[in-house]
Amino acid sequence: MESKIEDLNKKLALAYLGGGEKRIEKQHANKKLTARERVLYLLDEGSFEEIGALVTHRTKDFGMDKQQFYGDGVVTGYGTISGRLIYVFAQDFTVFGGSLSETHAEKICKVMDLAVKVGAPIIGLNDSGGARIQEGVRSLGGYADIFYRNVQASGVIPQLSAIMGPCAGGAVYSPAMTDFTLMVQDTSYMFVTGPNVVKTVTNENVTSEELGGASAHSTKSGVAHITSTNDVECLEDIKKLLSYLPQNNTEKAKDFPFELADEVREELTKIIPDNANKPYDMHAVISGIIDADSFFEIHKDHAENIIVGFARLGGKSIGIVANQPMFLAGVLDVNSAKKAARFVRFCDAFNIPLLVLEDVPGFLPGTDQEWNGIIVHGAKLLYAFSEATVPRVTVITRKAYGGAYDVMNSKHIGADMNYAWPSAEIAVMGAKGAAEIIFKKEINAAADSEAKWKEKEAEYAELFANPYSAAERGFIDEVILPETTRRKLIKAFAMLEDKQVERPKRKHGNIPL
Ligand code: COA
Repeated sequence: MESKIEDLNKKLALAYLGGGEKRIEKQHANKKLTARERVLYLLDEGSFEEIGALVTHRTKDFGMDKQQFYGDGVVTGYGTISGRLIYVFAQDFTVFGGSLSETHAEKICKVMDLAVKVGAPIIGLNDSGGARIQEGVRSLGGYADIFYRNVQASGVIPQLSAIMGPCAGGAVYSPAMTDFTLMVQDTSYMFVTGPNVVKTVTNENVTSEELGGASAHSTKSGVAHITSTNDVECLEDIKKLLSYLPQNNTEKAKDFPFELADEVREELTKIIPDNANKPYDMHAVISGIIDADSFFEIHKDHAENIIVGFARLGGKSIGIVANQPMFLAGVLDVNSAKKAARFVRFCDAFNIPLLVLEDVPGFLPGTDQEWNGIIVHGAKLLYAFSEATVPRVTVITRKAYGGAYDVMNSKHIGADMNYAWPSAEIAVMGAKGAAEIIFKKEINAAADSEAKWKEKEAEYAELFANPYSAAERGFIDEVILPETTRRKLIKAFAMLEDKQVERPKRKHGNIPL
C-alpha cells in the first residue's frame, strides 16, 4: 500500500507542477500567476477540491504521446468564495500554452454540467493559446461543446469569465456568451483574428494590445465589462462582483445586515444645477442614495453617457441604470442602449431589482446613429425593460424627454414605482426646441422674433418643464424631495420584495438583435 500511496503522491506532485518550473518562472516573469495560484487565491482557503488532476490528452500525432502533462492544461474543480459554492476552471498556460484539447474541453464541460445541476456560479479563468493545434477538429469540437453549455447555462447560473492571458480565435466566444468578462491590463488580449491576419487581410498595422487589449475592449468595443490592473485585482473583482449575485435564477442575492434609520441625505438637494443645460455627475446622485461605498460599476469606460452597475440599498442588492449628463448630456445612443439593455436583462434573469435614475434629453441625432441602427439598438433597451419582471423603480432627476422618457423604465412599460424630483422636466422635448416648432409662425411674424421665441419658450416650460403634468395623470406616483430619495427607495423596494408577474407562455420573445 505504501508504494501505491507514494505512486499517487508522485503523480499529484507532477500535476501540481503543470508545465514545470521553467515555464512557471516564465509565467511569473510575464507578471502572471499560474492557474493553480489563481484558483487558490480566488477560493476560500482550504476549500478547493480538484476534479480531473490526472487527466491526460489522447493525441498520438506529432510525437504528442511522448509529451504528457497531468491535468492537460486546465485546473478544474469546486470550492467556496465567502462560504458560497463556486465551480471554477483555470487554463494553465504552462502546459501547451493552455491550449484546448479534446480532454481539456471535457474537463471544463464536466464542471459546467455540475454547476448547472447544482445551481452554483461558474468562473472561467482564461489564459490560452487557443485550439490545441496538434488535435485539429477534435479541439474545435471541444470548443463547441463548451459554447453549447454556455448557452444552456445562460440565465440559469451566473457565468463569469476572466481573461488573464491570450484568448484568440474561437476561444473568445465562450467568454462572450457568459454574463461578465473581466480583463487584466497589459497581460491579456482577445481577438477573433490576430495582428498577423489583420495585416494580411486589411493591411493594417496593429499590435495585440491595440487590437484586443483590455483598454480596447473596455472603451471601444465594450467586450470587457471590467478591467483590472493585475491578476490579484482581477480575482478580487470577481469576488466583489459575486457578492451582488445569487447562486442561480431561482434565488435572490444575499442581503447584508441593515436597519432603517432616518436615511435623509441633504447632499442630494445640492446636485442639480439651476441651469438645465449644465451637466452634473450622476455618480453623486448614486452615492447619495445607496449604502456607503457599495457601487460596483460595470462597463465603466464604455458608453459613458449611461452608467450601469450593482449596489446595495438597505442591504439589498440592486442593479442601477442611470443617464450620465456629464457625457453627451446623457443621451441614449447605440452603445449606451446596448450596454444598458444587456445589464437590465442580466438583472432580470437573476432576480436583482432595478433602479433607474433618469436625466435624458432624448436619442442622439445624426447619420452615424441612424445608419448604425439606433432604431434597433434603442429598441433593445425598451424591450429589456418591458420584459423585466423584477421590482422596477425610476427616479427622474431632471430631463425625461421624448421617446427616451418611455424607454427609461416609464410607468407605461411596467415600472412599479415612478418618482420625480421637483427639478424634473417631463416633456416631448426641451422648451426651446418645442417653442421653435409649434410657435414658428408667431416667432417669424414678430417684430422681435428672438424675444417672441423666449416668451414662447417660457410658456412651454411653464406648462411642461416640470413633473406636475405627469404626476396629475399618475405617470409619476410621487414628486419627492431629493433628500428623502434614499428612504423612499428603501421602502419601495421592500414593498415590492414579493412582486410576482406571470407572462403568457411562449418559447422565447424576439428581442431586436
Ligand atoms: N496549440 C498547441 N500548443 C500551443 C498553442 C496551441 N494553440 N499555443 C501555444 N502553444 C505552446 C507553444 O508551442 C509553447 O510550447 P512550449 O512551452 O513547449 O515551448 C507554449 O505553448 C507557449 O507558447 P509560446 O508561443 O512560447 O508563448 P508566447 O507567450 O510567446 O505566445 C501565443 C503566446 C498564444 C501568442 C502563441 O503561442 C500563439 O500564437 N499560439 C497559437 C495561437 C493560435 O493560432 N491558436 C490556434 C487558433 S485558435
